[in-house]
Amino acid sequence: MTSIGIGLCGLGTVGQGVCEHLFGNRALLQQRLGLDLAVVAAAVRDVAKPRRLPADATTVRITGEWRDVVDDPRVRVVVELIGGLDDAFDLILAALKAGKTVVTGNKALLAERGAEIFAESERQGVPVFFEASTAGGIPIIKAVREAFVVNHFLSFHGIVNGTSNYILSRMTDAGLEFADALAEAQREGYAEADPTLDVNGWDAAHKAIILASLAYGSWLRPADLSVAGIDLVSADDIRFARQLGWRVKLLASIRARDAGVSASVWPTLIPAGHVLASVNGVFNAIMVRGDVVGDALFYGRGAGGSPTASAVISDLADAATALVSGGVPRCSGFRPHALYGRALPPGELESRHYLRLAVDDVPGVLGQVAGALGANGIGISSALQPEEHDSGDRAQLILMLDRAKESQMQRAVAELEALPCVRGTAKLLRVESFGS
Ligand code: NAP
Ligand code: HSE
Repeated sequence: MTSIGIGLCGLGTVGQGVCEHLFGNRALLQQRLGLDLAVVAAAVRDVAKPRRLPADATTVRITGEWRDVVDDPRVRVVVELIGGLDDAFDLILAALKAGKTVVTGNKALLAERGAEIFAESERQGVPVFFEASTAGGIPIIKAVREAFVVNHFLSFHGIVNGTSNYILSRMTDAGLEFADALAEAQREGYAEADPTLDVNGWDAAHKAIILASLAYGSWLRPADLSVAGIDLVSADDIRFARQLGWRVKLLASIRARDAGVSASVWPTLIPAGHVLASVNGVFNAIMVRGDVVGDALFYGRGAGGSPTASAVISDLADAATALVSGGVPRCSGFRPHALYGRALPPGELESRHYLRLAVDDVPGVLGQVAGALGANGIGISSALQPEEHDSGDRAQLILMLDRAKESQMQRAVAELEALPCVRGTAKLLRVESFGS
């Protein structure tokens, strides 16, 4: 049987998962693919660190230098699972220049430098696979690239960061504090080594950039997105949203309109009865709307060693099959085109909003707040002042607002925070009811 040599760079949460399942299900893979996926070399930062590797993996050469893996003549597919930006970029470029197929799960790198990586892939005629970069074990990249190839994508709505969904779920259902829920997510291997990007929305934004770029044919820049994270959300917001019939989720939204493509990630109130409201824990879900297929929904584990390994190994199977058949696969990588025009500036994005203000509990306050919103063209669709949250001379005012552009909202919030009757900073979340 033909054997394809695999070089694994990184033996952390995902790399160890890949190793475990490549060895554990080797016979199954051989039967299904008619070839053998053989890990022959691996690179780590610290070779002395104890690791959980399968017994059969003793044949794998482990080195402290990723260049050894790229240069190893037995290696035909290089898997980049070291994370980070600079070394990972150098590694991928070195592999492509050496004519070795690349598999990566590095969403931060693809979001920042995807255009350069795919340009090099095109120049070298060597494919880059990246299923594990978006939504863990859910095969969304393959679906967008292959299964839905005939569709114009009208929208994507997704919960694509397992860590923040885990934290929001634990805060909602178990009443946990933010810090305790984050510590749990770290123990489970869902959070990044530095969880800042998980909680400030940027990990989800990186995935939104990859999906939007793939769907709309031009690589979005981070500055094209409007991004906020769950570090904005308090237990009070979760409670108020529940009282009003909503759930709070970190929602990535991508849309194509006549004016261009828009992408954003925001903590968002969604109807409690909507299917995405029941996506809890580390699970991810993505709702795709195409002009031919209509609505399609994907659900699965969005993080962790095994689900992500499942995505990496699916790429390895495609890469190895293409190598054996002697061709570049039909749909690998990213091919730029200009069918959808520019990315809309974030200030142009429109949505409904939830606004929470701490205000002086005196007559006339609601009028002043409504006046500032009205002066910016923003209507109020409902207002709530929960009496149990009145404290002495202070009250909480919760307003559900009509649709407005982000630039309008920013102006209105600045004016509201300058009013003498408004205390502290305003809390602004988005509201999505999933109309057309
Ligand atoms: P991790 O647990 O931190 O593992 C990183 C691995 O890379 C470690 O084995 C580390 O070596 C090695 N490494 C780091 N820098 C290196 C260098 N310069 N040269 C050689 N080896 C190096 O990370 P992870 O969670 O597995 O994530 C890996 C990648 O997959 C990241 O891009 C991440 O964003 C992405 N991803 C992760 C998940 C997830 O659920 N964790 C899901 C999807 C995608 P040592 O072990 O010696 O420190
Ligand atoms: N930290 C990421 C998450 C890993 O929690 O979703 C998967 O990309």
